[in-house]
Amino acid sequence: MTGWTLRRRLVVLVAAMVVVLAGAMGTVSTLALRGSLVDRLDDTLRAASERVLGAEDRPRAGSAPSDETDLPPWEADGPLGEPPPGLDVRGQAVGTVTVSIRDGEVVAGRIDAEGQVQALSDAAVATLRALDPAAGPTTVELGELGTYRALATTTSSGDLVVTGVSAQDVEGTVTSYLVVELLVTIAGVAAAVVVGGALVRRELRPLERVASTAAHVAAAPLARGEVAPVARVPTVDTDPRTEVGQVGSALNRLLDHVEAALGARHASETQVRQFVADASHELRTPLASIRGYAELVRRMRSEVPDDVLVAMGRVEAESERMTRLVEDMLLLARLDAGRDLERAPVDLSLLAADAVTDAHVAGPDHRWHLDVPAPDDDVPPTVVRGDEHRLRQVLVNLLANARVHTPPGTTVVASVRRDDGDVVLTVRDDGPGIAPELVPHLFRRFTRGDEARSPRSGSTGLGLAIVDAVVGAHGGTIAVTSAHGVTQFVVRLPVTPVQGHERAPSADGHA
Ligand SMILES: Nc1ncnc2c1ncn2[C@@H]1O[C@H](COP(=O)(O)OP(=O)(O)OP(=O)(O)O)[C@@H](O)[C@H]1O
Ligand SMILES: [Mg+2]
Repeated sequence: MTGWTLRRRLVVLVAAMVVVLAGAMGTVSTLALRGSLVDRLDDTLRAASERVLGAEDRPRAGSAPSDETDLPPWEADGPLGEPPPGLDVRGQAVGTVTVSIRDGEVVAGRIDAEGQVQALSDAAVATLRALDPAAGPTTVELGELGTYRALATTTSSGDLVVTGVSAQDVEGTVTSYLVVELLVTIAGVAAAVVVGGALVRRELRPLERVASTAAHVAAAPLARGEVAPVARVPTVDTDPRTEVGQVGSALNRLLDHVEAALGARHASETQVRQFVADASHELRTPLASIRGYAELVRRMRSEVPDDVLVAMGRVEAESERMTRLVEDMLLLARLDAGRDLERAPVDLSLLAADAVTDAHVAGPDHRWHLDVPAPDDDVPPTVVRGDEHRLRQVLVNLLANARVHTPPGTTVVASVRRDDGDVVLTVRDDGPGIAPELVPHLFRRFTRGDEARSPRSGSTGLGLAIVDAVVGAHGGTIAVTSAHGVTQFVVRLPVTPVQGHERAPSADGHA
């Protein structure tokens, strides 16, 4: 029964119970019926036996018919020879048999349906003769005559007389009773399945409602961010006096706790994000001072010893690196907070052209190519609604990666094209590619390749995380494929951002 629904199990159990009960009741009542029928038959048998014994004591063969008999007189020279005693007596039922043994001579007969006395087969005589006078009424099988109740007695003169009456009626009655019993049981089982099924379904409905609430909550997005209020089990299904009510109210308590925990998680996430944003923001001013003083020392080149100049040069470089890191962290914190983006038309082709020009200057040893639709082409524009400053950063970060993480001489192609409702930006290079174990985590914060980890590279590992966050905030997607010789980042931005794709602005946005 594993894997069965509760409903099916209950219905099958109820049906099985009906079968067992009907079987037990049927057995008991059949035995009782048969017992009482056999008792009555035994009374008849005893009466028949008395009559036979009475006849035994009367004079026999050739005697005149008695007053009591309606039967034709026994013909002493008939085929049966000596007439069997007691069969010709009034009141003997059709089918009654007798066997009498007097002085070793066996006389036997049976009353047939016409009231005539017929001979008994040898086998029947043998069966009846074998009966014990002390045993009382006994059930015997008399071959084609069927089942009989028979009683053996001894006459006053010590002779054995056996009388039998047919038990066929008893058997027939019991059989038809059993048939009725069986039909009633089948009807009972059918009723149990139909009515029981309907009742069980009705009784399980509250449980289904509780289960559907649980399923509803399970399907809700609870993994991150601010979680909308979760559904509860309706009050009718939370009555603690019922089993289902106990489950329902326990589930509701659980959901209360879950909701409280999710609220607390969101609050602490918000706090951390706020802290990062505040800290980054606060770090900008002292960093600017450090940079300023370092620059000041550099200007006083002639008055400062050389080694101090070198040290101050390092201070300036590191403070610039730290400024970039702080700016990146601040930007990510703001994107996390879902601050409203600017929504202005931005032509990605123009942005790409600018970015490639800048990359050319920054990396003169690389080969830079731009592939955008010509302005006079009769093609849909590559304009999206978005935040120009941040989209520019997407391009700058991708091109910077193609410059920094590839050797000189690498060819980099930036292309922009329109694809239905999307503008697709692709940055492809033929450099050595990204380590495969890095690819699945590429858009996570602080993911860097081994080379980028060296302090001199100036990498922070935030570049692609920012790209991903900006693209996500515009309702777009980013995908990467990388092998030796082909590394390609594909950014898809919807021309008009789909509502709901954007991150919901939250109250903790920090300027
Ligand atoms: N075009 C590329 N070719 C080879 N490796 C790349 C390429 N782009 C990115 N990577 C690998 O992915 C890592 C993560 O890139 P990401 O831009 O996020 O960080 P970063 O460039 O190391 O640091 P940041 O951009 O913050 O200065 C890099 O460290 C580098 O190993
Ligand atoms: Mg980078």
